[in-house]
Amino acid sequence: MYYSDEIIEEVRSRNDIVDVVSGYVKLQKKGGNHWGLCPFHNEKSPSFSVSGSKQMYHCFGCGAGGNVFTFLMNYENFTFPEAIKTLAERAGVQLPEVEDSEEARQKKNRRTRLLEVNKEAAKFFYYQLRSPQGEIGAAYLEKRQLSQETVQHFGLGYSGKSGAYLVQYLRQKGFEDELIKEAGLATYSERGGLVSQFWNRVMFPIQDINHRVIGFGGRVMGDGEPKYLNSPETPVFDKRRNLYGLNFARTAKTGNIILCEGYMDVIAMHQAGFTQAVASLGTAFTSEQASLLHRYTENVLLAYDSDGAGVKAALRGIGILREAGLTGKVINMQPYKDPDEFMKNLGKEAFQERIDQAENSFFFEIRILSQQYNMQDPEEKTKFHREIAKKLCEFKEEVERDNYLQAIGEKYFIGIENLRKLVGNYAAQTGLVKPMERPKSGQAQKNTQEEQSRKSQRLLLTWIGDEPGLYQKIRKYITVDDFTEDLYKQVADRLFRELDQGIFSPAGIISMFEDEEEQRQVAQLFNTNLPALETRQEREKAFHDIIYGVKKNSYDYYTSRMGSDVTALNQVIAGKKALEELAKTHISLE
Ligand code: UTP
Ligand code: MN
Repeated sequence: MYYSDEIIEEVRSRNDIVDVVSGYVKLQKKGGNHWGLCPFHNEKSPSFSVSGSKQMYHCFGCGAGGNVFTFLMNYENFTFPEAIKTLAERAGVQLPEVEDSEEARQKKNRRTRLLEVNKEAAKFFYYQLRSPQGEIGAAYLEKRQLSQETVQHFGLGYSGKSGAYLVQYLRQKGFEDELIKEAGLATYSERGGLVSQFWNRVMFPIQDINHRVIGFGGRVMGDGEPKYLNSPETPVFDKRRNLYGLNFARTAKTGNIILCEGYMDVIAMHQAGFTQAVASLGTAFTSEQASLLHRYTENVLLAYDSDGAGVKAALRGIGILREAGLTGKVINMQPYKDPDEFMKNLGKEAFQERIDQAENSFFFEIRILSQQYNMQDPEEKTKFHREIAKKLCEFKEEVERDNYLQAIGEKYFIGIENLRKLVGNYAAQTGLVKPMERPKSGQAQKNTQEEQSRKSQRLLLTWIGDEPGLYQKIRKYITVDDFTEDLYKQVADRLFRELDQGIFSPAGIISMFEDEEEQRQVAQLFNTNLPALETRQEREKAFHDIIYGVKKNSYDYYTSRMGSDVTALNQVIAGKKALEELAKTHISLE
């Protein structure tokens, strides 16, 4: 079903966001906004705000944000058509009831269709597990000691021995072959036509943080290759940016997150009450996943396999966590291979003890390092000490470095002063004396300049979002093309066109974007606090600086493109004039 922009906007504007959200979250009015505990992450004091005037929500804690549609999509796990149907009904808006035309079908958002086909496939696997054909799968899960509740909670399923049923079922539900294939659920074969990709496997639906099924992992029954078959990357399945189990883990009230290697580990942990467990998706842990975790916690505990590969993965993971500014610790799983086996053998109290005893990630690294050297041999021992010194140099903050230096010195019986000297030597050799004071590289400078210009563009939109009346005062100087950042340009384009017609509906702008991350960014744009300034004079200066900054950036941007872009010249000429005028103009905020 494809809906026109008009009908989407009508449904949106007739559902007051404060009313709708109040049905799910207890809100309290404070200042211009309503506040409550964020339903999208775990928190104890409210940082989730809903604005009646802007018709948006935004969480200052986890960055979630959007309009009334995105709220329902995220909270209820609705696709966009489901959200619009629910809200239309709620407000008594009659939706057009025409059959999907071929054209309409194509227009419909690809991502939404992919999510829908995944959801339907998950249902199919779920019912198969409970059918006579699914007995093998059910027996397997029982053997792995998963309870009925656990199986249901994770939506586990089974893909039967015949590859044809899934495809038949999905076609019946109205999904085209092309889509089924794009979702990675089936492939063409010479003999059988379109057949299921998964065959005689227990199915693990992989959900994003909003409980939407974005892909699958399928485990073979018994020994076979590959042990786990995963959906390929698709427009909705980004393996670098999602984590298995995070949809539950983010509301676990534990203050930490446990990172495991496997799906089964996560499930075994949740079953035992450790609902803060997550795992990456058949690929190595990424920096994107680390920043995702950072939204919810500061502390990550690694529960990787205890074998050589697991230790290696843990060492890698520690580096990534550290770079993302997270504190990492390592849980010792010995003598068992992984959390799943540990739990089965020693149980949850023993695991809790292991959590409490988790090893500081730096100590872990040094301990693993120490295993490579024969300490009876003075030469090797010296090498080990040098390696320690080198690693200590990675701490940028002197206090931290010295604290670790002392702790390690005591642990490995190295004289503190000797070690300090060694660190000093190493630092001098590599020019790493005071990393904080090293001059900024060209790249870093460029980045801050870019960040600065993005910031002015962002702040200008935020400010106009707060005081739409100001638009009249800036339109002389600022045009849509002055926004060099694509997302901001799209927002400005729509915002300015509406303001020209006397309309102001920032929440409607969110509906323009299909990508969830973009929706979040737009919501954030209109819900950022502007710098708190006391006097009108200060405010006027800040506003002037922002406009000047946006214009100057645009001028520089087009100047550098004069050779390659024919419109750039006009922009540069107009930009120069506007800058000169701005320099001697006072814009009053009265
Ligand atoms: P493991 O081989 O450690 O499996 O892979 P496991 O979690 O202990 O599985 P069980 O207990 O034998 O069922 C850990 C993770 O690596 C990915 C999967 O995400 C798995 O959960 N993996 C492993 C694959 O993607 N493909 C494979 O063939 C194997
Ligand atoms: Mn296992």
